Order: sequence, then C-alpha cells, then structure tokens
Amino acid sequence: FSLKNYNTFGIDATARFGVEVHNLADLQTLLRSEEYQEMPKLILGGGSNVLFTKDVDGLVILMRIDGIDVVRESDTHYWVQAGAGVNWHQFVMYCVENKYAGLENLSLIPGTVGAAPMQNIGAYGVEIEQVFDSLTALHVESGELRQFNHEECRFGYRESVFKHDLKGQYIIASVTFRLAKQPTFHISYGAIQDTLAEMGVSAGDITIRDVSDAVIRIRRSKLPDPADIGNAGSFFKNPEIPTVQYQQLKLAYPAIPGYVVSETTTKVPAGWLIEQAGWKGYRDGDAGVHTKQALVLVNYGGANGHDLLSLATRIQTSVFDKFGITINPEVNVI
Ligand code: EPU
Repeated sequence: FSLKNYNTFGIDATARFGVEVHNLADLQTLLRSEEYQEMPKLILGGGSNVLFTKDVDGLVILMRIDGIDVVRESDTHYWVQAGAGVNWHQFVMYCVENKYAGLENLSLIPGTVGAAPMQNIGAYGVEIEQVFDSLTALHVESGELRQFNHEECRFGYRESVFKHDLKGQYIIASVTFRLAKQPTFHISYGAIQDTLAEMGVSAGDITIRDVSDAVIRIRRSKLPDPADIGNAGSFFKNPEIPTVQYQQLKLAYPAIPGYVVSETTTKVPAGWLIEQAGWKGYRDGDAGVHTKQALVLVNYGGANGHDLLSLATRIQTSVFDKFGITINPEVNVI
C-alpha cells in the first residue's frame, strides 16, 4: 500500500496494509478482528505531521470519520462536535461561517480534526486547548470507546497525553469544541495587526472572518502549500531554555527573540536560530529548508525520509554548536 499520497512530505513509503475507516462501527470491527489484532497499527489523518524514514510493517488506518454537529447550546456558547476525519481547515471555515468564535486564528492549518488534540495545534496566539471541551477515542486493544475531558488530555505546547503515556493506545474518533457566541479577538500578534491594517479593517468593526482572512494571508505568504511542495509545517518545536542562558545569549546576539514562558524559562523561535546558523533556503538534492520560513523543511520532489532526517540532524548539530540549544522535532518521525 503506497503512502506517497497520504503524507504531505510526499515520501514514497509503503505499508503492509492500508484501510480507510468511515465510521465508528467499522473502526471497532477492525480493531476487534483477529486478523489485525496483533498487527502494529498507525493512524493517519491528513498525514501532515509525519516523516516516513522506513516502510510500515503493519496496518495504516486512514481516518475518514466525518460529520459536524452542534451538540449543545447555552446563552453564551455552542458545543460543536466534529468527526476525527473532518479536514481541519474546512471545519474552521464552517465555524467562521456560522459565527462560532474561537478557532479563527487556526485557519489553514493542514490536517484533520482528530489529529489536532494530539499535539494541541496552535498558531498566532491560540492553541486548541483554549476552546477544547472533550474528545472520544477508541482503545486500540479492546475497541472500547472512552471520553477524555480537558484535564485528562494533559495539553502542553505541541503536547498531549496521546504523545506520551497513552502513545499508540487510543484512536481519536471525534472532538468537541466550546465556541463562543461573542468573540474574543486574539490579534496582538504583530503580523495579524499589520495584515488587518493592510486589509483596511479597523479595530472597531473587526469580525472573526477578518481574523481568519488575515491568518490565511499570512500563512500563504510564509508557509509552503503541500500541494506545491512537500512539507509538514514546522519541523522543529521552539525550544524553551533557562532565562539565565537566554540573557547570556542576548549579550552575544542582541537581536535574539524570546518569549517569557515562566519565571525561569524563555521560549526562543527555532526559525530564528536556524536562519542565523545559515540554513534558510539551503538545498541538498531535493531536501531543503524553506526560503521564507527556516523552521519548515521541504521536499522538492525526490527526497526520501533519510535525506530529510539527515538534513534535520545536521541542522540540530549546527544550532547546538552555535547557540548551545537543542532543538527537537515537532514532526512525528517514523
Ligand atoms: N524567524 C526568523 N527566521 C525564520 C523564521 C522565523 O527569524 O526563518 C523569527 C521571526 O522573525 C519571528 C519568530 O522567529 O520573530 C517567530 O516566527 P513565526 O511567527 O513565523 O512563528 P514560529 O515560531 O516560527 C510558530 C508555530 C507555527 C505557527 C506560528 C504562528 C511552532 C513549532 N510553530 O512558528 O506552527 O504557525 O508560530 O503562530 O510552534 C506548525 O506547527 O506546523 C506551525 C506552522
């Protein structure tokens, strides 16, 4: 089963078996079937956060459960549930059209609804945990359905329990978001302010549609479209370093950006570090570093997983040598 069309890096890997699941019952039957019980399983949504460095000796389950429903409403909120296989951006567009506020900053992120909580997707000052209500997931071994509330997901920066203690144990089937009737705008991010101004939107009559449009413009200008050039968004996470170390680096590199995370830690944009280490726009064969955003690794067509991983490793080493900072992949390397 070729995975080439099922990962946004466009890596030409294969799996022993591949199957699409369109509803919960089919997924349950599959998980409980003797034939597949013992076989390693990998769930793929949009395939927008994986790098295949080898073939998958097992079953790839392509998550295609769809459906969007308002499951509850109060004076102030809607609880909107979406199937794990719903395309993320289409879901955000549905919410923007219906004036369900809270996801507009997350417009145009590749992938699916089911993959979003795995790594608590975030952009332009919003992470899904801010509007997350709950999710349902199937236990891989037993096929039993379980509900997870916010606390049980243990969200962090690009983190959740599904990447750690429960890794590989649950398949997310649906996610419910608590979205507001009255929007709270998250527009402090410089690029959003600038873009809204360019669009001629004044602070007084801004709508969630405007915020969504601004985010779409910014993303289109900086991030490569996987349809044109293979990539998985940010390849690395932004490292959090001791503030003491940050202050020392600031003496040597006065321009180094940093965001306070806690009393003792500061987050540094990996894109800046990688650019300063000279990698922006670098290309080795068909593996490269995006010309407009150094945090994004790209496949110009013929690169394989090893080419990209080897490039990533060289970047990690070079950033460490220059700044003494370890950067770790955000992408799931398989
Ligand atoms: N920067 C550089 N050179 C670069 C890239 C960035 O100097 O090549 C500097 C920028 O000038 C800016 C800072 O780094 O001062 C931050 O850059 P940017 O706003 O582009 O955001 P980021 O930290 O690189 C994160 C997310 C993105 C998300 C943006 C916007 C992570 C790992 N990435 O990137 O998420 O869209 O913020 O909020 O946190 C993704 O996860 O796939 C993703 C694209």
